[in-house]
Amino acid sequence: MSKRFYLTTAIDYVNGAPHLGHAYEKVLADVIARARRSMGQSVFFLTGLDEHGQKVQQAAQEQGKTPQAYCDELAIQWQGLTTALGLTNDDFVRTTQPRHREVVQNLLQRLHDTGHFYKAAYTGFYSVKEETFLTEKDRNPDGTWDPKWGQVVELVEENWYFKLGVHQQWLIDHIEANPGFIQPDYRRNEVLGFLRSQTLEDLCISRPVARLNWGIPLPFDPGFVTYVWFDALVNYYSIPASLGDPAAAAGNAHGTAGSGPELWPADIHVIGKDILKFHAVYWPIMLKAAGAALPHQLLAHGWWQKDGAKLSKSTGNVVDPIAVIQEWGLDAFRYYVVRELAVGPDGNWTDDGFRSRYNAELANGLGNLVNRALNMLTRYRGGVVPAVSQDLAADAAAAVEATRTHYLASELQEALVSIWSLVNRANLFVEQTQPFKMAKDPAQAERLDEVLYTLAESCRVLAVLIWPVIPGTAEKIFAQLQVAGSPGDWSQSTWGGLKPGHQIGAPAPLFPRKDLAPAK
Ligand code: ME8
Ligand code: MG
Repeated sequence: MSKRFYLTTAIDYVNGAPHLGHAYEKVLADVIARARRSMGQSVFFLTGLDEHGQKVQQAAQEQGKTPQAYCDELAIQWQGLTTALGLTNDDFVRTTQPRHREVVQNLLQRLHDTGHFYKAAYTGFYSVKEETFLTEKDRNPDGTWDPKWGQVVELVEENWYFKLGVHQQWLIDHIEANPGFIQPDYRRNEVLGFLRSQTLEDLCISRPVARLNWGIPLPFDPGFVTYVWFDALVNYYSIPASLGDPAAAAGNAHGTAGSGPELWPADIHVIGKDILKFHAVYWPIMLKAAGAALPHQLLAHGWWQKDGAKLSKSTGNVVDPIAVIQEWGLDAFRYYVVRELAVGPDGNWTDDGFRSRYNAELANGLGNLVNRALNMLTRYRGGVVPAVSQDLAADAAAAVEATRTHYLASELQEALVSIWSLVNRANLFVEQTQPFKMAKDPAQAERLDEVLYTLAESCRVLAVLIWPVIPGTAEKIFAQLQVAGSPGDWSQSTWGGLKPGHQIGAPAPLFPRKDLAPAK
């Protein structure tokens, strides 16, 4: 056995329904997972839910449910999202599962035994309504507290703290020595800037049960539950440990190595920019303190807005991924979010932008190419593949190589740009050669064979390239060509795979045109 490529997403808070931002992140991770599997790597892809904490406890209470019943109901909806998005995740973690809780407690015990924690009393101002401590920054300029905090009282509270100071310098050194650890570079620079300019304060890792009981109890002090981030981050490690990953032995009660799949350390944690500090500062320190290896990369994506404004349920400025998929199809959704936005910057969803990419790039670009290529081969040659021709072989090889490089660098938007260079090249080839005119001239029969081969083979190669992003479309192309094997196999991207004499199937449109659909 050897180590598998281990890829994770953030685990979503279970309060509320999934929105565009959640769906986007999961699609990014799925494209990376599929691309690498298609290239022969063994991949383990983990996603899931973050179910503990104040908000869940409150929401459950308001609905008169136990927190667990509340989570169980919502988890069905969230797991439904993974299916609706076509995700190929290998597991789905819920932080309320015993397999996760056990590892969190083992790690806490280990860090406690090795002297990383201390208990201390904290005196501060506390908002009873918001159930949170306030700092001087929360005060109005005149010294009063904003009414939004409700009653503010001075409170003394004991908690457990994690000593972070001793970890600051090695973490800076590690980030400096490993440029790939935090990507993109500007996010890495933000973290370095923060670490170089500020002294890390010790991290409070507990909440008194009197204030919050929906959490994992500290194994060494049952009056407290674990702070939700300490619990949530561990999911990346608890699942390998629970599966018996030998490299995640620190998660076992006695630190014993198992004989399960080799997963840890994670190769990529895909996360949003807002949670980078937790992943780039607290998580590496937790792992290092426990004697575990650090993940190879934190890949921080940007945030979506809609029509230039923040996504927000209260203002109705939302994109429901499920509704978009029902109207336009799964591949249209996956294509748009990956093509519109590079991994890193923020993006803006507009319905017009979506419709225009659908029509221009999917229906008129790829869809039209495949439809023309297969229709002409059917009409002029009875669907029988002519002799191999090399017209676009070099263009295809260049696109395959560029796409492969981009996929492996998690440059997913750039991968689609490379793929569409071949789509556009092949469509241009139709305009240049005018096969429909050639078909009327028997003297050009041989040239027509070459053109028809070139077009059909371009479609076959394109199916392999697009599979990680739009697998359903890729599979339709293979089905219409009636070629054996799966487009999810990168080795099939070599020019010449379509064999002379092979009979293709019936062509059918891939993306119904929606030009006439009324604007909503
Ligand atoms: O932060 N655009 O959960 P979460 C793009 N449970 N991405 C967005 C987004 C948007 N508008 N809104 C949210 C949490 N996201 C924690 C994570 S991980 C150990 C614990 C992304 O439900 C966000 O950046 O608030 C994050 O990566 C993910 O959705 C879950 O956010
Ligand atoms: Mg959030």
